[in-house]
Amino acid sequence: MAPSSLKWALLCVALPWAQASPSASVLQSRDEAEAYSPPYYPTPKGGWISDWAEAYEKAHKLVSNMTLAEKVNLTTGTGIYMGPCAGQTGSALRLGIPQLCLHDGPLGVRNTDHATAFPPGITVGATFDKELMHRRGVGLGEEARGKGVNVLLGPSVGPLGRKPRGGRNWEGFGMDPSLQGVASALTIQGMQSTGAIACVKHLIGNEQEVHRMSLLGTQAYSSNIDDRTLHELYLWPFADSVKAGVGSVMISYNDVNRSSCSQNSKVINGLLKDELGFQGFVVTDWLAHISGVSSTLAGLDMSMPGDGGIPGNIPLLGHSVWGPELSRSILNGTVPLDRLNDMVTRIVATWYQMGQDQDYPLPNFSVNTEDAEGPLYPGALFSPTGVVNQFVDVQSDHNVTARAIARDAITLLKNQDNILPLRRNDSLKVFGSDAGPDPDGLNSCSDKGCNKGVLTMGWGSGSARLPSLVTPQEAIANISSHAEFFITDKFPSSITPNPNDIAIVFINSDSGENYITVEGNPGDRTKDGLYAWHKGDDLVKAAAAKFHSVVVVLHAVGPVLMEEWIDLAPVKAVLHAHLPGQEAGWSLTDILFGDSSPSGHLPYTIPRSESDYPSSVAIIQQPFGQIQDPFTEGLYIDYRHFQKANITPRFPFGFGLSYTTFNFSRPSLVPINPLDSEYPAPRSPKPDTIPIYPTDIPPAAEVAWPKHFNRIWRYLYPYLDNPAAAAKNSSNTYPYPEGYSTTPQPDPRAGGGEGGNPALWEVVFSVQVQVTNAGARKGRAVAQVYVELPASLGVDTPQLQLRQFEKTAVLAPGQSETLTMDLTRKDLSVWDVVAQDWKAPVNGDGVNVYVGESVADLRGRCTVGSGCSKL
Ligand code: BGC
Repeated sequence: MAPSSLKWALLCVALPWAQASPSASVLQSRDEAEAYSPPYYPTPKGGWISDWAEAYEKAHKLVSNMTLAEKVNLTTGTGIYMGPCAGQTGSALRLGIPQLCLHDGPLGVRNTDHATAFPPGITVGATFDKELMHRRGVGLGEEARGKGVNVLLGPSVGPLGRKPRGGRNWEGFGMDPSLQGVASALTIQGMQSTGAIACVKHLIGNEQEVHRMSLLGTQAYSSNIDDRTLHELYLWPFADSVKAGVGSVMISYNDVNRSSCSQNSKVINGLLKDELGFQGFVVTDWLAHISGVSSTLAGLDMSMPGDGGIPGNIPLLGHSVWGPELSRSILNGTVPLDRLNDMVTRIVATWYQMGQDQDYPLPNFSVNTEDAEGPLYPGALFSPTGVVNQFVDVQSDHNVTARAIARDAITLLKNQDNILPLRRNDSLKVFGSDAGPDPDGLNSCSDKGCNKGVLTMGWGSGSARLPSLVTPQEAIANISSHAEFFITDKFPSSITPNPNDIAIVFINSDSGENYITVEGNPGDRTKDGLYAWHKGDDLVKAAAAKFHSVVVVLHAVGPVLMEEWIDLAPVKAVLHAHLPGQEAGWSLTDILFGDSSPSGHLPYTIPRSESDYPSSVAIIQQPFGQIQDPFTEGLYIDYRHFQKANITPRFPFGFGLSYTTFNFSRPSLVPINPLDSEYPAPRSPKPDTIPIYPTDIPPAAEVAWPKHFNRIWRYLYPYLDNPAAAAKNSSNTYPYPEGYSTTPQPDPRAGGGEGGNPALWEVVFSVQVQVTNAGARKGRAVAQVYVELPASLGVDTPQLQLRQFEKTAVLAPGQSETLTMDLTRKDLSVWDVVAQDWKAPVNGDGVNVYVGESVADLRGRCTVGSGCSKL
């Protein structure tokens, strides 16, 4: 039933963007009016950041010589299934620009052969290892380049993980903005060091899968987020990504504050391009493009895969809201030519910025078939055929990185009586289909849309084919000659264990993207909730009823409830192996048998009950109309909420045991740059380097069909049948969006560089701690830095917020390492919704900085101005 508008008025949180008054000194809290996304026009142009200067100069020269058709070509995909990649633009071959291949995804090159299936983001987050984050980025970039992918569609930092049941949280790095931000920036730097363009996604508020897209009868949901929450949580990792120089950003399907992200001028023009100073290009999510002129004016630069999405368009019939329509809107003067020039300049500059003008390979694979030859345009009725797969092996030695990540993410949650590590001659009985292979064969389900055998990743576009897989079963069998396997989820009732037998029980929990439903879960975990799939709890309990010692191994996309068995006496150990990717087997045995100590830490909280979360983070379902999803919990997601509500979870954020123990000593806080003002130093004005082009509307003939042109049905071209008619129709009657203007906005004070005002990134304190291995086995420790901001800031702020982390090398017993972690001005600031700027406590007065092994296990505290102590 549709809720009354009064109720919605009370529930929805408003954006105070429009009312911001720089003179007011008190921070405005969220109020409860209707969500609204204010207009923000025109689109800020790219080309004013010095790191991009050379690329923009080259792009300026090249774009100056482009015809209208060539320009439109680069902005619009050629149509779904109209080429080898998830999407490809048209080309400007005359000027040396090929079709650009945009392809998934965040953990490897999707749907192809001879490519590494790295562990997904959530596993990477659990390593808390910056070096591995970067190294995986390099591997992803090298493989993208090797396959001819120009733009690899990752990393994913949205969803942030607000909703524990959310289907795609596993593609990102964990339920904390700083963890996501650090991991995303390192991934991007790694990827782009190879020449591949990264595409951070999905901007923004894409926190559940169900109803993410508009379909017949339903409109994509609206994530109604207040300004402060948006800045301090959801935009935070995007800011870090822009700061890292990301080349492209993917816009999400959903609305934010009742305006669809693909045409939301506040989100694209205002936040991304003005405040965050983004210099690359903005691309739609697939088929998220629902308006022509409005999206262009709102700052969108590229339509993928080119076809228009519902509502308003029937996709897949060869219709785009850009392509010829964009040509028309330029010829008839509706869209200013300088907007199109900026779109194309951004795309070409990004191409130059990554060096793709220097021998970048063309695609040598096809997502459409595994055969060597096939149709070049499978979406066409009649397509020419040719060689589409060259089976190029791009894996190099990336399996080493993949295994290191999978291993160093494994999180030991319980280890009573030090039952782990196992000895090679322990008598083992292994249970659960999650230990074994997919009975239907490797990669039996497309896009991993099934949960069979060991769970290596979730499903959807964020998956990749496994090039090979050593299952936990095979890896254990290879090491132990005393292991017996029961690769079934039904406990064999006839079994009679010997007293010394150890049961290892494998369970899992899966989720994925909404276009596939797996065992009743339409992406989000709506059916299985936070419980293990395949009656995993029963399997553990049955084993615990017969064995004295049970080790549970969990593969999961996110938090899983363990209350039914975690306190049972026989359940001695729990290893959370997250989603290991292709190295599922060896990474696990590395830990199980003690070659390495576990060193992963939880990138989210594991609760005792789902009701411990705020009710506002449940998945919302509604068959008709538009879901309004008010983010009423504000900043209080995951551990921020548990602390505020004083709820002790089963395992806190950041938790993870080892086979050894660590002492944290000598915490110190070294002042680096003074924090001598509430707000950062004023930003500089934009330098005068933005490319300028002639503004005359180009000749209509530039988008006429070339003579004797062999059109392919459904392929999207920039051409018009009668361009002259479009040009003549120049009476400007277009109903421009509310607030549309061509007068540039004043420079936002929080902007001024990539990611925001450069002063925000000044290091103000350096935190140091000495970590000593105090146990008897070698191992790696993670130090997590949490900040507590003072009440003097005048706003309610989460008690503790992760802002930095570091991981030691492998420390031998007795060995020490000093870790150093930098805190920036932004790390100690709150978003001031009135000033529209980041506000910090002057001199850091009243700030407490904690170093710990989890949010609930703090080992050292430093109070700015009064020193540090061990806790
Ligand atoms: C997903 C994106 C993906 C795109 C292309 C969409 O359905 O939301 O994350 O990159 O498809 O496959």
